[in-house]
Amino acid sequence: MKIPCLIVFSIALLSMLLFSDAARSDALVGGWSPIKDVNDPDIAEIANYAVTEYDKRSGAKLKLSSVVKGQTQVVAGTNYRLVLETTNGSATKNYRAVVWEKPWIHFRNLTSFDPLLT
Ligand SMILES: *[C@@H]1O[C@H](CO)[C@@H](O)[C@H](O)[C@H]1NC(C)=O
Ligand SMILES: *[C@@H]1O[C@H](CO)[C@@H](O)[C@H](O)[C@H]1NC(C)=O
Repeated sequence: MKIPCLIVFSIALLSMLLFSDAARSDALVGGWSPIKDVNDPDIAEIANYAVTEYDKRSGAKLKLSSVVKGQTQVVAGTNYRLVLETTNGSATKNYRAVVWEKPWIHFRNLTSFDPLLT
């Protein structure tokens, strides 16, 4: 009688531990992590897309000069949050662009593009 009881208790305890572990790793999904190499060709492509798409939507004529820094977030695909330096004629300005990509269905969208105070 005593031993099965102990086993049931152990299993219950173990599953509680496992569930709380799962909850912890869920909390990590959705966190932003820094992009180590902002010169990566994939990042350059996302950055170019962000500026081109912004220009297309707004009628602006911004040109990308560099990716200053960025972060990514895993969310049914990847969110890229990039700080982009752009030029507009002779004026230089930084923007924060967010691009959502789901590469397996070739989906990409510019979610936001906002000026940053520098
Ligand atoms: C770009 O520069 C032009 C001319 O100075 C200005 O009218 C326009 O508002 C600027 N666009 C952006 C997005 O800053
Ligand atoms: C892309 O993002 C913009 C801004 O959030 C939104 O208005 C638009 O509906 C989105 N387009 C698609 C295809 O999801």
